[in-house]
Amino acid sequence: MKTTAIIGGSGLTQLEALTIIEHKHYETPYGEPSAACVIGELKGRKVIFMARHGNPHTIAPHNINYRANIWALKQAGAEQIIAVAAVGGITSEMTPARVVIPEQIIDYSYGREHTYFAEVDAAVQHIDFSYPYDEALRLQLIKSAAELQLKTWNTGVYGCTQGPRLETAAEILRMQNDGCDLVGMTGMPEAALARELEIPYVCCTVIANWAAGKTQGEITMPEIIKNLEQGMTDIEKLLQHFFKLEYRSRRADFSPPLYR
Ligand code: HPA
Repeated sequence: MKTTAIIGGSGLTQLEALTIIEHKHYETPYGEPSAACVIGELKGRKVIFMARHGNPHTIAPHNINYRANIWALKQAGAEQIIAVAAVGGITSEMTPARVVIPEQIIDYSYGREHTYFAEVDAAVQHIDFSYPYDEALRLQLIKSAAELQLKTWNTGVYGCTQGPRLETAAEILRMQNDGCDLVGMTGMPEAALARELEIPYVCCTVIANWAAGKTQGEITMPEIIKNLEQGMTDIEKLLQHFFKLEYRSRRADFSPPLYR
């Protein structure tokens, strides 16, 4: 069974349900990761947790060392990654506090170290990124949510902006016309880097607010915090059930030897 890494975003700097075994600091060829890998056990499974913005939460989206983070998780033994992220809701179904498991990405970020294949003299490499998230892992999460009867939305396009400022109303309208349902600041290059290292990766978002221009008035921090708190309780339940299901399927896969 695969070792799972959870990347926690805004509103999830630690996993309450994790029984911590050790904190491991990794040095990488790309510099310092955001935080130590917290290695522990959840529902009988080895889990590695990484706080994307550091713990305490001090690293802004454009300053995150995404390459070091994914590299460190690989060093720690991650075989699949569930990335949790706060987003704004653009289209009408994307209501605040809801958990959404997106299917596609449009990248509007810029100036970030976004590839491991950056050496000048190395052979040019192009990863396939037609479907940026691992579909099998996505379906496993969706199944877990369905069993819990959580009110998740199981598709959608994630638009990744540069931040740290929020968007203008016109930018959000343009993103909506492009096909985006959600807007966040950390989805890329994280997903592409995981693909470059061949680690199946899925994103699980919590809607913190309506995106710019989608409601009257300003987007406020108290509103964001309230919605994130509500959504993150669903995320914690979802993750726990995900590991319970994996544990069960591992037992179901087990076929006893024919001879002793
Ligand atoms: N825009 C970008 N990122 C976000 C937002 C938003 O409105 N809310 C939470 N993360």
